[in-house]
Amino acid sequence: MAKLAINGGPPVRTRPWPRWPQWDEREEQRVRDVLHSDDWGGFAPVVAEFEHAFAQYHGAAFGIAAVNGTQTLVAALMAVGTGPGDEVIVPPYTFIATASAVRLVGATPVFADIEADTYNLDPDAAEAAITSRTRAMIPVHFAGHAADIDRLTVLARRHGLVLIEDAAHAHGASWRGRMCGSLGDVGSFSFQSSKNMTAGEGGVLTTNDRALADA
Ligand SMILES: Cc1ncc(COP(=O)(O)O)c(C=O)c1O
Repeated sequence: MAKLAINGGPPVRTRPWPRWPQWDEREEQRVRDVLHSDDWGGFAPVVAEFEHAFAQYHGAAFGIAAVNGTQTLVAALMAVGTGPGDEVIVPPYTFIATASAVRLVGATPVFADIEADTYNLDPDAAEAAITSRTRAMIPVHFAGHAADIDRLTVLARRHGLVLIEDAAHAHGASWRGRMCGSLGDVGSFSFQSSKNMTAGEGGVLTTNDRALADA
């Protein structure tokens, strides 16, 4: 068996990782434009332009920008009316926000295990976790690998559950040709500094449901 690098063997990787985040004069120009516009607020025209472009790219009709990908989950849960007494099924393998957002609206996160081969919410485990109090499920597209939306959608419809995609890692990702963020009732993205697409911090919600977007 090969000797691990930690024990003096050859390292698997010798080149440094690419620089992150990556940006060039295009981002710099857009930031300068905003700076000089004297219009830095959330209702500035560039925000609406971004919301629209991001949503459209992900196959969703509406985009709503927010401060981060935790508040987007909170807003999604509030928009669908989740609160105290409700249970929301989440995977245990994720960032804390998937579960803490549920607590932030006063509901109870219920963990259902992940699939061994995808690390995403296991539909069988999710089904076993459903009770009369379950209101929603939040599958995570972990590391940009889409959760099994076909089976989760069937489950959601059968039990009248809301499907909120935690797409914090899934910018540009797809499931059988359909973009993540447009597969459930609401999609939630993060632009935190480690994400595939970053603004340092930030988040956006996507949905095809006008009433949910308004809410
Ligand atoms: C799966 C997942 N959900 C939600 C979040 C929360 O996003 P934010 O850090 O923008 O609040 C993150 C990452 O930080 C995440 O990895």
